[in-house]
Amino acid sequence: MNTPFHIPEGNFRGHDRQNVWKLAPDPELTEVGPGTACGEYMRRFWMPVAMTDQIGDLPYRIRILGEDLVLFREKKEGRLGLTHLHCVHRNMSLEFGIVEEGGIRCSYHGWKYGLDGTVLETPCEPPASQVKKKTCLGAYPVIEYKGLAFAYLGPADTTPPFPVMDTFDEEGDDMLPSLIKSPCNWLQVMENAWDPFHVVYLHTLAVRSQFIDAFAEMPMIEFHEGRYGDFYTNVRRVGDIVWLRVHDHMMPSFTQNGAHFPVPDRQRYFGRCGLSRWVVPIDDTNTMVVTWRHFRDGDDPRGMTDKSKVGYGTTDFYGQGPDRSYEQRQRDPGDYDAWVSQGPKNIHARENLSFTDRGVAKVRRMLRNNIRSLAAGNPVEHPAAASSGILPTYAGDTMLRIPIQPGRDDAAVLKEISFKVADIFRASDDRSGAARKSFIQDELKKYEAGWA
Ligand code: FES
Ligand SMILES: [Fe+2]
Repeated sequence: MNTPFHIPEGNFRGHDRQNVWKLAPDPELTEVGPGTACGEYMRRFWMPVAMTDQIGDLPYRIRILGEDLVLFREKKEGRLGLTHLHCVHRNMSLEFGIVEEGGIRCSYHGWKYGLDGTVLETPCEPPASQVKKKTCLGAYPVIEYKGLAFAYLGPADTTPPFPVMDTFDEEGDDMLPSLIKSPCNWLQVMENAWDPFHVVYLHTLAVRSQFIDAFAEMPMIEFHEGRYGDFYTNVRRVGDIVWLRVHDHMMPSFTQNGAHFPVPDRQRYFGRCGLSRWVVPIDDTNTMVVTWRHFRDGDDPRGMTDKSKVGYGTTDFYGQGPDRSYEQRQRDPGDYDAWVSQGPKNIHARENLSFTDRGVAKVRRMLRNNIRSLAAGNPVEHPAAASSGILPTYAGDTMLRIPIQPGRDDAAVLKEISFKVADIFRASDDRSGAARKSFIQDELKKYEAGWA
């Protein structure tokens, strides 16, 4: 039979590959609710759970690691409390509770709870009632710092010290908090920071320069181990400048990256991070990215940052949330569109990891090992427990004037420089503050001079 329709030719294999629709996510790395292996691991760390400017005089309902909770500021000293959402009398939600001095009171029958969940009063009970001694409300400790509320949701007897990085309190650094939610699993959001190659394509070549043109150059990436966490060097040559962009990573989900709008056209010695970032699971398919944006002189030579945009649900660099039309997101997708569109839970069995996914493979391996180690009864390693104070970190941009060396393969030169700079950074670990900074800067200058 003759037909006017031409059937396209080609090697069509959609039907052969229909098994992809049946593949499932990896529960070991993605399930975070109470009693799950990954959830239990993540509960062993302090995590930011809210921006404190969102906590007014009313109870503030939040969900963290699949637990419904209420955060409130008690009225005597302004301390923060974080408790399970439901009153343990008959389960009315404490989001409708009354915030008082030293605690919160349920508005149904008046049970009052202290910050640690102790039942303090049961006004409708007869005076001889012992019920308040028999139960308590689940509660977690909270620390407030620079506009963020951090909580520890793990067992009380393994509460770790609060990790304070060197980037949390630097002179001349204006730190602004931000919190943005994404409707997908936490791991795919976290992995974005272990995937430095997406900067070349998604942020630069795909549509336009969302940050700076120099990101179009494919970087050389080397992974390094530090005393308290991992870091990687992202190295690019821009004329005579060797630009090293360093990122920090601490398990389970803390990362710091370089400046957002660096200009690699001049020397810079140990410029510091543009962002300190935690990826915090709300539940298995909802996540929040909680950050401090850092603003310092010299980080943004072209004036592309905007402090007024940093806050709840928003920040000053492109593509971090759903704050654009669907058409704009399709025409110019950002990080949010990448990680959310991987699905509610990315299905690893459908992926084909390759050379540029070394970071992703590495972090999954580390996470799996750590989850299994805890499940086997081993203690969790905490950087802050191993240090005597403030933790040295490395993230930021360093730019050295090291021209192409006649007779030498430039890739080998860049690799050598990235390892040497990593060594210089690590050698500073026992110093702190201005002394550490000047040690690193002096060593970098000496090293650079050696190539002249
Ligand atoms: S349900 Fe809260 S006091 Fe009764
Ligand atoms: Fe990105």
